[in-house]
Amino acid sequence: KRLILVGPPGSGKGTQSPIIKDEYCLCHLATGDMLRAAVSAKTPLGIKAKEAMEKGELVSDDLVVGIIDEAMKKPSCQKGFILDGFPRTVVQAQKLDEMLEKQGAKIDKVLNFAIDDAILEERITGRWIHPSSGRTYHTKFAPPKVPGVDDVSGEPLIQRKDDTATVLKSRLEAFHKQTEPVIDYYSKKGIVASLHAEKPPKEVTSEVEKVLSQ
Ligand code: AP5
Ligand code: ZN
Ligand code: ZN
Repeated sequence: KRLILVGPPGSGKGTQSPIIKDEYCLCHLATGDMLRAAVSAKTPLGIKAKEAMEKGELVSDDLVVGIIDEAMKKPSCQKGFILDGFPRTVVQAQKLDEMLEKQGAKIDKVLNFAIDDAILEERITGRWIHPSSGRTYHTKFAPPKVPGVDDVSGEPLIQRKDDTATVLKSRLEAFHKQTEPVIDYYSKKGIVASLHAEKPPKEVTSEVEKVLSQ
């Protein structure tokens, strides 16, 4: 399967991805994760992306299309993939369609993590992540066994630099202006399934499973 997860910051894309990935043996391609890795490694890509990310604005289409094009070529992604956080503009969606057409492939489903903006600040400001595995915790909704420590590896958890109430405002603005049109783009193709992303994580997982079994 080839899936796209779309939704505002904190809607649960990164939380559901590892579960879907394991159940359906897909590769998980998260542009945000790839960009953060590039920023901390100070690669040329990371240097170009850093400022926009810290402000909560989108990185240029060319940069993200380039990393996705590269990542989709991996052998592990040939059977299928989950795109988490991409495409985020209509231009990115069109470029993705072109890339897939060349391989005779297409997107099967777009999972729309529908949720009210008002819930997102608490989710974002309470988030802690384990960078090397991508595991996500929340001080209130999904606390680690030991505060600040990853349950599996025992390594320290970190908070994202853009997870402040102020930067969240810009990220939400970018979502409504630039990414919501992407949902319309795929709605016209009849492949969007909307989820109740405000529900507890397990219930969201069940909704995802229901959509994917159809
Ligand atoms: P990105 O990393 O994609 O961030 P985002 O879209 O803002 O999404 P988040 O990762 O914040 O949300 P999520 O839905 O994954 O939430 P999560 O599951 O972790 O992008 C970052 C930046 O990179 C962008 O601002 C941009 O600059 C750049 N970028 C990336 N892709 C780009 C692109 N294609 N084009 C241009 N620029 C790009 O959940 C959040 C918290 O809530 C967690 O603590 C979790 O435990 C908790 N939680 C999750 N689900 C539930 C639930 N059901 N109930 C209660 N709590 C829950
Ligand atoms: Zn995420
Ligand atoms: Zn909106």
